[in-house]
Amino acid sequence: MSVQQDMVAAGQAVLIENYGRLPMSAARGANAKLRDASGKEYIDFFPGFGACGVAGHCHPKIVEAIREQAAMLQAHGNLLFSAPQIDLAERITKHAFGGKVFFCHSGAEANEAALKLVRLAARGGERKADGPYKIISFVNCFHGRTMGALSLTPPSFQLGFEPMLPGNIQVPYGDLAAVEAAIDKDTAGVFIEPIQAEGGVNLPTVEFMQGLRKLCDEKNLLLVCDEVWCGPARTGKWFAYQHYGIEPDVMTLAKAIGGGLPVAACVAAPKWADILAPGTHGCTMGGAPVCAAAGAAAMKLIEDEDLVTRAETLGAEVLQTLRDAKLGCVSDLRGKGFLIGMALAEAVAVKDVMMACLEKGLIVCLAKNNVLRLAPPLTIETDVLHQGLDILIDVLKEKS
Ligand SMILES: Cc1ncc(COP(=O)(O)O)c(C=O)c1O
Repeated sequence: MSVQQDMVAAGQAVLIENYGRLPMSAARGANAKLRDASGKEYIDFFPGFGACGVAGHCHPKIVEAIREQAAMLQAHGNLLFSAPQIDLAERITKHAFGGKVFFCHSGAEANEAALKLVRLAARGGERKADGPYKIISFVNCFHGRTMGALSLTPPSFQLGFEPMLPGNIQVPYGDLAAVEAAIDKDTAGVFIEPIQAEGGVNLPTVEFMQGLRKLCDEKNLLLVCDEVWCGPARTGKWFAYQHYGIEPDVMTLAKAIGGGLPVAACVAAPKWADILAPGTHGCTMGGAPVCAAAGAAAMKLIEDEDLVTRAETLGAEVLQTLRDAKLGCVSDLRGKGFLIGMALAEAVAVKDVMMACLEKGLIVCLAKNNVLRLAPPLTIETDVLHQGLDILIDVLKEKS
């Protein structure tokens, strides 16, 4: 057996098979390149499933920040303050809407914190047993796998794990009248991805997002933007809500905000910044110094290298290259910045395209509704980007 086959077999023997993993391993990475255990090199258009989205694998400045912090202090619990956490929170709030940050580890956990914040806010900040509790979310959304976040996520993910949190309802993405019709006296808030990523890279209109903000204001509902995929910088803005000229009450972040290490955040606008008072919520290792230092280093890279503009420029270049290729099997090409979705014709299975790309040394990912997803690191070299696109175009031409 090859080293690669050995590792796959060893993994299958001890790791719970909840992911339907590919028969592939990952051993080393640098920017947009990844090597498997046997040394085969890939171009990675989906590094760390979004977690290495800012600077790809092992950017020297992030590695250095991790190394330095690991030698200084690794964990302190959250009864104390520490510089890396403050640094990361300052960089997030500066580029968003001010306010304050709660740190945890995953997107689902950030949404759990947001759920509790929304319920408490809807009860005037008081810990009373009754009050608004229902949340409106959207068809084709994804907010995570823990029981609260799962309650906001489509029924196909919930099946077998019911009952969910009561009263939540999903309405079509972009349908303001449906949101309005779903609101009643028990509604506490609305959760929305400003661009749906797992759901197929779906973009709402500016009018819808502005209408949603206005509706939430009129009905006293909190608007939560789940930016786990979109932030920071990925879509050509620091955060994707900024495309629509609105501000949410709460924003959740994970994946790329940690620069490749586990960091997630629930960011509350100034008005709601003190709702999660002592004793209401917690996370022992949330924003642990080594992880926060990696996240702050990634944020600093975005600032120093203007990766917000780079995301916009490279994304436009990718869309143009793919359009120019006139691929018969692509029924729609869409995206914002460097988050790109290619809807494939029904006859072409996105999983087959993904596997054919893998065979030729390119990592891409699938999303719902037969959509192929590209989210290369914002620091990818342009020649590597085009080598990857050449592979993708070859594969899609074979399928057309
Ligand atoms: C928009 C969105 N929210 C939340 C999550 C859950 O994040 P995690 O897997 O870190 O819990 C995801 C995961 O892909 C996501 O795409």
